[in-house]
Amino acid sequence: MAHAIYVFDGYGTLFDVHAAVRRHADTVGPEGQLLSALWRAKQLEYSWMLTMMGRYRDFWSLTEEALDYAFDRVPEANRASRTALLDAYWKCDVFSDVPEVLKQLKLRGAKLVVLSNGTTAMLEAACRSGGIDDVVDEIISVEEVKVYKPDPRVYDLVTTRHRCFPDVVSFQSSNRWDAAGATAFGFRSVWINRNALPEEYHDFRPAAVLPSLDGLLTLG
Ligand code: LAC
Repeated sequence: MAHAIYVFDGYGTLFDVHAAVRRHADTVGPEGQLLSALWRAKQLEYSWMLTMMGRYRDFWSLTEEALDYAFDRVPEANRASRTALLDAYWKCDVFSDVPEVLKQLKLRGAKLVVLSNGTTAMLEAACRSGGIDDVVDEIISVEEVKVYKPDPRVYDLVTTRHRCFPDVVSFQSSNRWDAAGATAFGFRSVWINRNALPEEYHDFRPAAVLPSLDGLLTLG
């Protein structure tokens, strides 16, 4: 196997961040999709802003702050769902392709790593609830460097820990900007384009684009 280390982004790639609003659609009420999109966009914006400002606050607190802002912007959404929505970050759904692909890669001898903005506690809980904790070899959180993706110091956590060159790492993310950061760092990046979005970040093309993780098994 050409790539012995498979690194996966967390939210959006393994864990379905929008499942929470879908699951609690009745409580959230109309505009749930808008709430969910704003929640996610603000969570990421805060992570980029802090990193550019040379500051850090953990991803859990950014997730809470982003949801509160989204509720302010979408008054139609029912705030009574706040606790249930936040809870979903600890009891994540994994996308349906995830368990089998991870299992197959593992059977082929790959090392499976999760590299995410989430805190270690959030990621451990999500892997457990998603039923992938026994196949994932390692969880690496940005907490170790206190900067967020796509700062190269985050991707470097993998190469430093494994004492390897970036090009032996296959990095999977459904977040196009994250795949761009990984390409810039030197990983073989694979954009998991789950939502059939248009291509962007043309200067930092991924090595491959797949609609789901399934194609990884034939990519080599
Ligand atoms: C993560 C962000 C990108 O899991 O969702 O790192």
